[in-house]
Parts: sequence; structure tokens; C-alpha cells
Amino acid sequence: MNFQDIKEIYNHSLNITPETDGDFFECAGDLLETDEIKSLEQYVQHDTINRLQHITSVAYMSYVLCKKFSLDYLVTARAGVMHDLFYYDWHEKHGGHRLHGYRHPGFAVKNAKELCGSIDRKTENIIKRHMWPLTPTPPKYKEGFIVCFADKYCAATELITCHKNKKTR
Ligand SMILES: [Fe+2]
Ligand SMILES: [Fe+2]
Repeated sequence: MNFQDIKEIYNHSLNITPETDGDFFECAGDLLETDEIKSLEQYVQHDTINRLQHITSVAYMSYVLCKKFSLDYLVTARAGVMHDLFYYDWHEKHGGHRLHGYRHPGFAVKNAKELCGSIDRKTENIIKRHMWPLTPTPPKYKEGFIVCFADKYCAATELITCHKNKKTR
């Protein structure tokens, strides 16, 4: 696995469907079908990329990497879908989501519990620690490090893509 492979996984994540990636949708398709997750489409994550696209890329990349390294890809795909589950635009200034970078993993855990009824410890830890090292406590599980990596890779790629688009507009 090299940088090119990671880039290809990211590019592929933008076009996945139950037909092309049935196994991923077996793992996380029920979550992606909920109104709560679908509603994330209305929020800008990075410029032209909405949050639904972002969480789908992060979940898919985490899933592929976990499969590759024989880790728990089911839990990771699902935690990836819910890692940024909060219902506001983080670009807007609002007292309720002050210090967004530090606090939104906690909001996402709460919302994931509401969405699923309950979540297991590993899922909770993956979501709660995904902003490491901005938040100082690292993830407890290898799968959590994978989601941290995928989140940063996807966010950086989204920002670079938006920057390039702006230049050519
Ligand atoms: Fe996040
Ligand atoms: Fe994220």
C-alpha cells in the first residue's frame, strides 16, 4: 500500500454505489439510508464538499484499510459514517458550538447513540478520539488510528481540491 493506492481509494470513494461496493454497503448502508445521515448533505464540510460526501469518504477509506490490515472493518465503517454526526454548519459562529474542533466528537457520540439506540465501546472510542492529536487523548484501538488518518487525509484532499477548483474558476 503506497500513497498512490490511498489516492485511488479516495477517488473511488466519491463514486461508490451498492452495485460497485456491495460489501461496504452491507456494513454501513443501513446507516447511510437514515434521514439523520442523509441530512448531512445540507452542511458544507469544505467549500464544495458536503458533510455526507466527507463522512462517506472517511468511512470507505477506513473500511478498505481495515480490511487490508485484517482489522474490524465492520465497526470501523459504521463509526466512520458517524464520526462527524452533528447537525449544524461549523463555519457559522454560534455559542452552542464554540470550540467546535474539540467538542464535536462528543456531539457525534451523543447523536450516534440517539441514532442507534446504543453503540458499543469501540465505536464510541473511535468517534470520540477521531480528532487526535488536536484533542490530546489518542484512540484506544488500531481502528481508531485508521479513522484519524482517513479523516485527515480526506479533509486535506477536500481542501486541496477546493483550492484548485477556485483557481480554475
Ligand atoms: Fe470531525
Ligand atoms: Fe471528519
